[in-house]
Amino acid sequence: MAGRIPQTFIDELIARADIVEIVGSRVPLKKAGREYKACCPFHDEKTASFWVSPDKQFYHCFGCGAHGTALGFLMQFEQLPFPEAVEELAGRLGLEVPHEGGNAPAQRGQEELTDLLGRVAGFYQECLQSNPRARAYLQGRGLEGATLERFRIGYAPDAWNEVLRRFGATEAARKALQSTGLIIERETPRPGSEPFYDRFRDRIMFPIRDPRGRVLGFGGRVLDGGEPKYLNSPETELFHKGHELYGLHEIRLARTSLQRLLFVEGYMDVVRLHQAGVAYAAATLGTATTPEHLRRAFRLVSEVVFAFDGDRAGRAAAWRALQNALPEAREGRELRFLFLPDGEDPDSLVGREGRAAFEARLATALPLSEYLIAQLRDQADVSHADGRARFVALARPLLAKVPQGVYLELLRGRVAEEIGLNSERLRELLEDTSDPGYAAPAHDARGGADSPRGMNAERAARARRSGGSSGRRSILTQAIQLLLHFPAVAATLTPAACATLETISEQEIAGIGTLRELLAAMRAHPARSTAQWLEEWRERPEARRLGELFSEATLLDAAQARTELAGLVEGLIEQVRVGRGARRYDELLARVNARTASAAELQEFQQLLKDG
Ligand code: UTP
Ligand code: MN
Repeated sequence: MAGRIPQTFIDELIARADIVEIVGSRVPLKKAGREYKACCPFHDEKTASFWVSPDKQFYHCFGCGAHGTALGFLMQFEQLPFPEAVEELAGRLGLEVPHEGGNAPAQRGQEELTDLLGRVAGFYQECLQSNPRARAYLQGRGLEGATLERFRIGYAPDAWNEVLRRFGATEAARKALQSTGLIIERETPRPGSEPFYDRFRDRIMFPIRDPRGRVLGFGGRVLDGGEPKYLNSPETELFHKGHELYGLHEIRLARTSLQRLLFVEGYMDVVRLHQAGVAYAAATLGTATTPEHLRRAFRLVSEVVFAFDGDRAGRAAAWRALQNALPEAREGRELRFLFLPDGEDPDSLVGREGRAAFEARLATALPLSEYLIAQLRDQADVSHADGRARFVALARPLLAKVPQGVYLELLRGRVAEEIGLNSERLRELLEDTSDPGYAAPAHDARGGADSPRGMNAERAARARRSGGSSGRRSILTQAIQLLLHFPAVAATLTPAACATLETISEQEIAGIGTLRELLAAMRAHPARSTAQWLEEWRERPEARRLGELFSEATLLDAAQARTELAGLVEGLIEQVRVGRGARRYDELLARVNARTASAAELQEFQQLLKDG
C-alpha cells in the first residue's frame, strides 16, 4: 500500500491546476463576467446555473448545490476516488504523486524498473543518432526530428548484447533487465558463454510510456520486410497491454483542451497524427481495444472515435472493438467508428491530405448505434419475418452487454425501430425469462445525498448571490464566510482579539472551534488559498458547509474585509461577554437569595447591577 499523499502536494496541485481548463475540457463553458457558466453536468437543467470561478478556483451549481475544487470536480464528474483524481490531475500537469514515508516497496521496485527502461530508451535514442540507416528509414516515413524527440523514438543496434553489456553489469541488474523483457535467457545455454541475449536487435524502437512519461516497455519495428514486423515487450508486472495506450503521455504534453480521443491501430499512426497536429490520437498495443482501455479514455474525455483501415482486417478489428465497447457505452459518452478508404491507414492519409481534411473525415464517423445496426442488417434481411427474427437474435447478446440505463433504452429503441416493433414489446422478447431486475441507471448515483435542494434553497442562493442580505446569518457564520473569501485577512486580526476568542467555549458559541481553527491555520499560512484549505479539510464533517459558504459571492473587497472581520470578531466577543454577564448575574442572584454569597460576591453583584 502506498502511503498518504502529502498535503503539500495537494496544495501544489490546486495551485497549479486551472479549474476553468479542467471543467472546460468536459463541459462547454461560456464566459460571464469574471466567471464561466454552463448547464450543470450533475443535474438536468435547461438554463445554466453552474458557475466556475477562476479567482476562487471553485465551481458551484445554484440548482443542485454541487460545488468544489478542480479535484472535487474530477471526483464528481469522473466518479473517481480521491487518490485517482489526484493521479489524474497530477498526470495532466506532468507531476508525479509522492507518498508519505516513501513509496511502498513494490512501488519502489517499479520505479527502479521504469527508471532502467527510461535509461535504455535514452541509449536507443543515442543509437539512432549514430545510425544513418535508421535515421534515413524514419525520414523516409516522413518523421521530423522534433517528433522523434517528442516520442523518444530510437534504434536498437544490430547486436546480441549491447543492452546486456551496458545495463547488466551486476546480477541484480540482469534480474531487472530480464524482468522488463529487455534480455532473454537462452533456452540451451552453451557452457562458458553468456546465458542471456538482447530481445531487440536492429529495430526502430518506440518506447511505450504511461501518462506521466515513465517507460513501461517498447515496440520495435524492423527496417525492412522482416518478420515479425513489430516485436513488443512481453507482458510484465509493469506492462499490461490490455491496459496501456500508446500516446497518452504525448497527448498530455500537447496540453490541448481535450474533447475527444482518437483510437488508431498502430504506433506509426499515432506518431504521424501528432506530428500533423491531431494531438489526441492513441493506439492500443497490437491488441483489441478492451473495456479497460475505454474506461481510461472516458476518464479524460466524453468522446472516443475509432479509426480503422477499410480492409477486411480493419473491419474485423472494428467489430471486436464494438463488442468490447458495449459494456462501457452509456449516456454522456460518445463512441464513433470511422472507416478509412481501403488500403489507407491514418499514417498515410494524414501524411497525404493533412490535418484539416483528416479531421473532416472524423466528423463523418458513424455513431456506435448506427454501426451496430448496419452490421446486423448486413447479416439479416429485415424485409421478411425470418430475417427480423434473426436480427433480434443477433442483437440480443450485444444488447445484453450494455449496462442498464438511458443509453440501453435508446439502443433498444433503435433496434425495435429497425424491425418495426414497439420497443416495449422488443424488451419483453429480449428479456423473456430472466428479469435482470431494476439496477439503478448509472447516473442516478449522482443524485442521492447531494440531490437538488429544492427551489427555495435555489432562490435563496440566487438572492444572496445578487447581493441580498446575509443579515439572518449568525455573526459566527459571517466571520467564517469572510475568512473563506479572504483568507489573508486572518493575519490582520489583533493578538488580543485572538486571545479572547481562545477563551470562548463551544457551549457559549457553537462552532467557535471551526472559526478558531480557520483563523489559526490562515494566520500561519496566509498565502494559502481557500481551495487548498478546502482540499485539506475534505474529510471533515463541516467541509460541505464550508464549501457552500465559499460558493456564495461576496460584495466586499479585501480592504473592507479587514475592518469587517475586526467588527465581526468584536461582535462575537461582545455577545459572549453579555451572555457571561447574564449567567454570572443569575448565579450571584441565586446565592444572594439563598444568603450564601461571600463578601466579594456581594460586591461583584452590586457592580453588575450598576453596570446594567
Ligand atoms: P500495422 O501492421 O498496421 O502497423 O499494425 P503500423 O503501425 O501501421 O506500422 P507501419 O506503418 O507498417 O510501420 C498495427 C499495430 O499492430 C501491432 C503494432 O502495435 C502495430 O503498431 N503489431 C503489428 C504487432 O504488435 N506485431 C506485428 O507484427 C504487427
Ligand atoms: Mn501503417
